[in-house]
Amino acid sequence: MHGIQFDKAISSESDWTKKSIIQFPNPQQISLSIRASALIFADEKSQQLLSLIEKVAPSNATALIKGETGTGKELVARHLHNLSPRREGPFAAINCGAFSETLVESELFGYERGAFTGAVGSKKGWFETANGGTLFLDEIGDLPLSTQVKLLRVLQEREVIPIGSRKPIPIDVRLIAATNVNLTEAVNAGRFREDLYYRIKVVPIEIPPLRERRGDILPLVEHFLEVYRNRLHTVKPELTSDTLKHLIEYPWPGNIRELENVIHRALLVCDGKTLKPFDLNLPSIQQTHVSDGEHALSSDQRLEKSINDLIRQEPDQLYDLFIQKVVLQTYEYCKSNQVQTARVLGISRNVLRALLKQFGTIQ
Ligand SMILES: Nc1ncnc2c1ncn2[C@@H]1O[C@H](COP(=O)(O)OP(=O)(O)OP(=O)(O)O)[C@@H](O)[C@H]1O
Ligand SMILES: [Mg+2]
Repeated sequence: MHGIQFDKAISSESDWTKKSIIQFPNPQQISLSIRASALIFADEKSQQLLSLIEKVAPSNATALIKGETGTGKELVARHLHNLSPRREGPFAAINCGAFSETLVESELFGYERGAFTGAVGSKKGWFETANGGTLFLDEIGDLPLSTQVKLLRVLQEREVIPIGSRKPIPIDVRLIAATNVNLTEAVNAGRFREDLYYRIKVVPIEIPPLRERRGDILPLVEHFLEVYRNRLHTVKPELTSDTLKHLIEYPWPGNIRELENVIHRALLVCDGKTLKPFDLNLPSIQQTHVSDGEHALSSDQRLEKSINDLIRQEPDQLYDLFIQKVVLQTYEYCKSNQVQTARVLGISRNVLRALLKQFGTIQ
């Protein structure tokens, strides 16, 4: 049996948010049924991260979470909120990259009736919605410069003025921002205001990529096996030693989100009893299944082969397949970075996310 064996319990503290954390000093020797809501912080680096989160959570300080795509930035933000005195208040999350330049301000600050064409009623902004709680601004690096100025003002004055209004609304919100781009570089390039940068990075929290905290991999695998086994109403398959080896050695460019998707998919395609390396569908593993001739192909030749494969498909499926191939290849090329992929393809991140969901690459 090569399934992962875990034998360490959840911490005994009474607070539910703390109870849902699993700390594995030795991930290879731990056994318990992991709850769906559990957070995994098993690797030494993750445990350091967890103690930082616990230390800074009670304060009101603005936090800036940095980490590659899929590393758990939103999850950490929620955890900071759950451990803070604001936990009974709202937690509102907004992705700054998901809105056009004109929309993002009305989303953040709200608007009054008649503020602009189409504003038939007034609408609360996210700052107001999050009043008394925490506002999570994801991909803050995507905010246009003009909005950055206004955001800084809101943070300094602790009040928002909805578009089309003159009446400031006092707000009591803790801001947590996240970025998967290097904001120092953005500041140097003039794309991000230095004063706002210093204002938001009071507590910088860096989440290491999964490949730098490999002690988390197997507990995460166990966690997601449990989550998806429950959801799919299947039994938990055994993992062969080769499967474990692949899981541990794979570099996980899409981090925890990628691992989650891989396990979900593997559960769907495996024979129900054993989870074999091929079920993981990891790029390095697939290579062992392609013919020898294909290994020798250059990237141009591989592209040509892909196109030829496509052309052989039914004409009415061709367009969809082509779109899927282009999007997924670009996504892989951009190491699962959605902002970069959307930029390369010339589409919005929302459209990209919708396509990736449609292809089953993300949830
Ligand atoms: N420590 C953890 N334990 C358990 N699950 C985790 C952990 N960290 C992240 N996850 C899971 O991984 C997935 C991705 O996490 P999350 O959405 O927080 O990442 P992100 O860094 O915000 O990603 P993106 O950059 O794409 O917005 C989620 O399903 C989340 O629940
Ligand atoms: Mg996120």
